[in-house]
Amino acid sequence: MDEMVIRDGWGRPVNNLRISLTQRCNFNCFFCHREGEENAGGETTLEEVERIAAMASRLGIRRFKLTGGEPLMRDDILELVKRLSRIGEEVSMTTNGSLLADKASELRGRGLTRVNISLHSLRRSTFQWITGCDALEEVEMGVEASVEAGLRPVKLNMVVMEGVNADEIPEMIEYSKSKGAILQLIEFQPIQEGAAHWDRFHHDLKPLEEMLRRTSEKVVERQLHRRRQYHLRGGGVVEVVRPMHNTEFCRYCTRMRVTSDGRLKPCLMRNDNLVDLLSLMRAGATEEELIEAFREAVAKREPYWRD
Ligand code: 5AD
Ligand code: SF4
Repeated sequence: MDEMVIRDGWGRPVNNLRISLTQRCNFNCFFCHREGEENAGGETTLEEVERIAAMASRLGIRRFKLTGGEPLMRDDILELVKRLSRIGEEVSMTTNGSLLADKASELRGRGLTRVNISLHSLRRSTFQWITGCDALEEVEMGVEASVEAGLRPVKLNMVVMEGVNADEIPEMIEYSKSKGAILQLIEFQPIQEGAAHWDRFHHDLKPLEEMLRRTSEKVVERQLHRRRQYHLRGGGVVEVVRPMHNTEFCRYCTRMRVTSDGRLKPCLMRNDNLVDLLSLMRAGATEEELIEAFREAVAKREPYWRD
């Protein structure tokens, strides 16, 4: 199998594609990094996304993560999930959860296997202050519907912010445990909207991670970014995502991104090395030319944080 794995110039295998489907979102989180996208011009169509996924699959990249904006804003999301699940081994989604309660079961039926739901606070006022929407209850219903539908794992993405929600971590651990979800604690990143708020809200997760390392029953290392999952003594699982200035995070990055307007994006942190696959597609490029462009994007991958 190993010869099927495409590697970049740094020897890093690429095995997952993070596909942004839209810049539209029904929330307005003040820190939104918009997956690092600048000046998106339009959206890829269903067929175009399908074609990009098929190309990725030819290169051995068979795990797809759908993101946005909010992927559930797309009217064709069910059909998209269905088609991608035929091409790949795994289709998952990162969503704000507000539209999930009605759709979780259908999504599962179309082949979605797992889901990440952004949930930064369990306090109604804090939730509303962060997202600009009074939708905490809807998101909680989305969490429950996802677990009931059999999506596994259900992960709760909590961006930890100083003076906003850092004090809520114990409650979030309890809540996640009670729902059968994994809590994913994410470091605040100064990207796009996040940049202006970095000084005020950045919260260093290193001390917490060291505490978890000492007190957990078991620590599982994931391949992607070498993220650690801490299995707590009292039950519950916490994963820590700490990208900033973290050379290990980049050394074990196995992901390629696609922007909502169809450009291959080798790194979240950069916009100077994109490969505009969609324009090539729309100009009638051959399959071989497109695969070559894909390889070119993989070749452009570089660890952002490095020694
Ligand atoms: N820093 C860290 N995480 C962010 N997210 C959005 N903006 C930022 C930021 N500036 C989160 C979303 C979602 C995940 C993809 O990234 O809330 O859960
Ligand atoms: Fe951005 Fe996600 Fe918040 Fe929407 S829910 S504004 S995409 S961070």
